[in-house]
Amino acid sequence: MATNRTFTMIKPDAVQDNHIGGILGMIEAAGFRIVELQKVQLTPERAGQFYEVHKERPFYQDLVKYMSSGPIVAAILEKDNAVADFRTLIGATNPANAEDGTIRKKYAKSIEANAVHGSDSDENAQLEGEFYFN
Ligand code: PPS
Repeated sequence: MATNRTFTMIKPDAVQDNHIGGILGMIEAAGFRIVELQKVQLTPERAGQFYEVHKERPFYQDLVKYMSSGPIVAAILEKDNAVADFRTLIGATNPANAEDGTIRKKYAKSIEANAVHGSDSDENAQLEGEFYFN
């Protein structure tokens, strides 16, 4: 059964470019409630732990370096059908494929600097939220 929570990060490029407010505004306008919110700088070790599931993929080192290159904003969000609805709101991983009206269409620069993360399952939403918020 789907839970009503998901987890997101606003990535370093979007924080650096002053898009925290714009992105949180889109999230709230889409009906999500911000349950927890934290601005934090990840060390390479912490970023590596977060993305450990991708450690065999060719972009892993680049992703870890990028995600620890500047502050990020981590948040837990609440809404019915949160995981699936949030993935729809953020759009495709590669912004070249992101649909109009999505966060990545508006703010993402590349497949690496793609503005936001969104959990891909209820189980990962729980684990990822616990990674930041006890
Ligand atoms: S997804 O959303 O999990 O289905 O996407 P996936 O393709 O599996 O990618 C997992 C995360 O890796 C990031 N990614 C990359 N980073 C750097 N370079 C390249 N080429 C690249 N390809 C994918 C992608 O943005 C996903 O990050 P998160 O934080 O999960 O959105």
